Amino acid sequence: KKVGVLVSGRGSNLQALLDACADPAFPAEIALVISNVPGVLALERAAAARVATAVIPHRDYPTREAFDAAMDRVLRAAGVEIVCLAGFMRLLSSDFVAGWRGAMLNIHPSLLPLFKGLHTHRQALEAGVKLHGCTVHLVTPDLDDGPILVQAAVPVRDDDDECCLAARVLEQEHRAYPFALRLLAEGRVTVDGNRARIRE
Ligand code: GRF
Repeated sequence: KKVGVLVSGRGSNLQALLDACADPAFPAEIALVISNVPGVLALERAAAARVATAVIPHRDYPTREAFDAAMDRVLRAAGVEIVCLAGFMRLLSSDFVAGWRGAMLNIHPSLLPLFKGLHTHRQALEAGVKLHGCTVHLVTPDLDDGPILVQAAVPVRDDDDECCLAARVLEQEHRAYPFALRLLAEGRVTVDGNRARIRE
């Protein structure tokens, strides 16, 4: 399956996907990486892996819909079948989300439905939870919502700050995202309401 990855920054999750897809036995290949921000590390990672890149600056478009339509055209032209959001820091319009229904994944650094939005590690520390983690889910119109494919949990330690908790979660993100992409690319995911079921 051909995958398009949307990024805005560091791209460590993109790197995990690139590394997984480098294995010829992996059921997906990354056809294109799109960034809405020029010059980010994620673009360098894609180039180093000889993957095509496109920079589509959101500020060049009058509306969110127009920006999303431009991304959609570039993804379709590249033959992309699955979209992965990997640190992509823009909200998506409902038309774009509808067009990729069942075929767009996001990774979020918390155990959803807890701690949606930004600063999830700070939210977790403030809530005093003893388990935290990450979630890979199918994208639906609501932010950080949608059927969950994979979650990974880590302990929260008494002396944790935001940074070391983030690093512990990130390590799990890099395992969870390729695993979830494999499940989707192999056609093993069916959606029943809010629940994703995974065929063995
Ligand atoms: C990750 O923590 C991801 O879960 C969140 O944004 C961060 C992106 O990091 N959505 P990177 O760009 O993949 O390194």
